[in-house]
Amino acid sequence: MATLDLELGGPQTVPEAADDGVWLTCIECGETFAPFDDVRYTCDDCDGLLEARYADTPTFDDFEGRGVWRYSEALPFEEGVTLPEGDTPLHYVPDLEDDIGVRNLRIKHEGMNPTGSFKDRGMTVGVRVAQEVGVDRLACASTGNTSAALSAYGARANLETLVLLPAGKVAAGKVAQASLHGARILEVDGNFDSCLDIVQDLASRGEAYLLNSLNPFRLEGQKTIGFEILERFYEDEGRFPDRIVLPVGNAGNTAALYKAFRELVRSGALAPGDVPKLTGVQAEGAAPMVEAIENDLADTKRWDDVETRATAIRIGNPVNAPKALPGIRNTGGTAVAVSDERITEAQRDLAEQGVGVEPASAASVAGLRKLRLSGEVDPGEDVVCLTTGHLLKDPEAAAEAGADPEPVPNDTDKVLDHLAGKRVSLDGDGLLGKVLGALR
Ligand code: F0G
Repeated sequence: MATLDLELGGPQTVPEAADDGVWLTCIECGETFAPFDDVRYTCDDCDGLLEARYADTPTFDDFEGRGVWRYSEALPFEEGVTLPEGDTPLHYVPDLEDDIGVRNLRIKHEGMNPTGSFKDRGMTVGVRVAQEVGVDRLACASTGNTSAALSAYGARANLETLVLLPAGKVAAGKVAQASLHGARILEVDGNFDSCLDIVQDLASRGEAYLLNSLNPFRLEGQKTIGFEILERFYEDEGRFPDRIVLPVGNAGNTAALYKAFRELVRSGALAPGDVPKLTGVQAEGAAPMVEAIENDLADTKRWDDVETRATAIRIGNPVNAPKALPGIRNTGGTAVAVSDERITEAQRDLAEQGVGVEPASAASVAGLRKLRLSGEVDPGEDVVCLTTGHLLKDPEAAAEAGADPEPVPNDTDKVLDHLAGKRVSLDGDGLLGKVLGALR
């Protein structure tokens, strides 16, 4: 059974710093801070991560409406800068469920958010907080999706947006989004972790408001993934899922889901024994969280050289590890690393079910398959895999994983011949024709 540190769900006494029942607490030393008076991302005293806390935590009956703001009782505001986000599908994938061999497999497709990833849930809340504290410029480091979401929400809020990307390592769709939504894009000659170092420096010098998941309010929005999964799965099956499998980069989602569960446990809406096992998946070339779980380390060790086809999770220093490691451990979950080859296979498996995802997202399914094969996941389990980003985010990866287009002549009979497996000459209409034409 899961052992939960329920104290982390929020102290019983409301500190003086609280504003309308909301405050920030340092997860390391317990110091409390007013939520919106000053811009602050970590603890003034010990530099620990901060977490939003509430005088009251919600039950399922408190939720009303649709999308992220359905959960406003669990958020610092009633509404935010919205496009709108959340309310994503929880797909059935019966063939894949049989193939992997679990009782239930559902896919929570976060790629169906307005900018195509779960980041929108964090930004609708984070940008609302930025308005509250009154900032001029928003900024983030990103492997792509955060920048796409921030650019859209920043544009919507009419705020200047700056994004720092690792040069040459961001999928085309994501750069295109940041570009069209009008962000200033800086391509850094370094990896994601170096981009985050720089943007943290900029934020601490007061040059920009940081909207990476180090910002505790981003994670408040992302908590709603957990609420949605629990509500929808219960509606369909009359019970909560045993396990949630998710790709891990900075470990923000892992931390956010754990927080959602703790808040529901604290209010009595969820029994501790019903908390799903949080199971994180990383790419083999960028797996510091897996290393920490496997070796029972108190914290992750930074990996300086990271590489994977799943560029969204090409991260060597997961900043939310201090929040996420207890989430994995206290829910009885685990962490597993998968190869790029298995990630591509899982991307195809999902695509065969009509679910189009980017490589990082497919890591969840690849991880589940690996854990099922090793016997760590039981065939009787109800599992939800989180797919975090849409297929079109990374068109190159999708085209590489998929079938090649077949050139055919501009002629119906020849198209039919081609389909029947007959050799047809391209007659100047296709590639061969062009080559021949050039030779002539
Ligand atoms: N999946 C996708 C598609 C992502 O874009 C990310 C993170 C993750 C998973 C990992 O989530 O950080 O909460 O563990 N992308 C960030 C970005 C880093 O900049 O877009 P996490």
